[in-house]
Amino acid sequence: MNILVTGGAGYIGSHTLIELYKAGHTAVVVDNLSNSNPVSLQRVAEIIGIPEIPFCKVDIRDREGLEKVFAAQKFDACIHFAGLKAVGESVEKPWEYYENNIGGTLILVDMMRKNGCKNIIFSSSATVYGDPAEIPITENCPKGQCTNPYGWTKSMLEQVLMDIQKADPAWNVVLLRYFNPVGAHQSGRIGENPNGIPNNLMPYITQVAVGKRKELGVFGNDYPTPDGTGVRDFIHVVDLAAAHVAALKCFTQAIRQSSNQTFVYNVGTGHGYSVLDMVKAFIRVNGVDVPYSIKPRRAGDIATCYCNPDKAAAELGWKAQYGIDDMVRDSWRWQSQNPDGYPEN
Ligand code: NAD
Ligand code: WQD
Repeated sequence: MNILVTGGAGYIGSHTLIELYKAGHTAVVVDNLSNSNPVSLQRVAEIIGIPEIPFCKVDIRDREGLEKVFAAQKFDACIHFAGLKAVGESVEKPWEYYENNIGGTLILVDMMRKNGCKNIIFSSSATVYGDPAEIPITENCPKGQCTNPYGWTKSMLEQVLMDIQKADPAWNVVLLRYFNPVGAHQSGRIGENPNGIPNNLMPYITQVAVGKRKELGVFGNDYPTPDGTGVRDFIHVVDLAAAHVAALKCFTQAIRQSSNQTFVYNVGTGHGYSVLDMVKAFIRVNGVDVPYSIKPRRAGDIATCYCNPDKAAAELGWKAQYGIDDMVRDSWRWQSQNPDGYPEN
């Protein structure tokens, strides 16, 4: 298939491009580079062994820009990663998050339907479950109250896309609810490259390990979990990338039970690891120290979040292959080989 990949220069998008090409697909990336560096695409092309990844520096809120992209070629599907994703920033700048994520997706979807492309895989998040009503979380678990505007953009966009599919069954909508992506491609050439102080655990750990930050603050050790620290379903980004290729099946195979159905899948490993499990695995596998101290709980955090990934296994034939040692090893390979992230282009 020929796939439009919005946000393809970013962390998950760049890894997904590799898996798409490995599986025989082609892609065109649309990205405004607001949170990424085009060097990631050069490196993806090197890894795949092609001269370049077709790339259009276009904002998904720019109708005319998108029109040119659609006029130049035909797409079988869109994998839609583009969006702002910093939880804390979304609390400070809710308008910007709603406008970029929701406004941008509405324009993208409008341009898709006008150009006859009605297959979309959307990057959703475990955050839509709020404080989950059940653990492990299945797709039947009710959605919950999000604690920040970022989370609401995901929850609302799920609803928007479901309604669009319901009104026009020619649409195929796949909602992938990612758990906690970590790790990097085994080459060490691409990885997560956050701007400023990392919000997420793994980039914070790697930046402490490489000497860019003094110590990790562990947010709370009094949760009702085995060691008191938060438990999450960390998933290797290469596994997550492969889930997108598997999800393309929804566009070619009749796995729908009814025409008014949106496909929803949890994308996680099904294992919960605590913050201290991750820190200890990182130290053990990589032989580098990660000084840490216990800090108060972070507002909005939940104690435990991991999924039941059986639906994706049964319907998509996808299952995570990598374990915690792979995650911490590959995160470190990327950070230690690229202490300052990607070079300026
Ligand atoms: P990322 O920031 O690395 O990638 C997102 C990309 O989208 C960036 O390259 C950015 O420049 C681009 N972008 C943002 N707004 C745009 C716009 N208006 N027009 C064009 N491009 C735009 O983030 P990521 O970690 O790769 O996440 C990809 C998607 O997955 C996001 O939608 C994110 O919300 C979602 N997600 C991420 C996580 C996570 O923990 N990383 C978890 C769940 C869901
Ligand atoms: C994991 C655990 C922290 C940093 C977030 C978003 C979610 C999704 C994934 C996009 C928690 C602890 C963290 C640190 C710490 N993103 N921690 N010290 O909060 O599960 O999920 O990213 O959709 O929407 O909310 O991930 O990596 O921030 O935190 O102790 O410096 O690590 O308290 O228990 P989270 P995270």
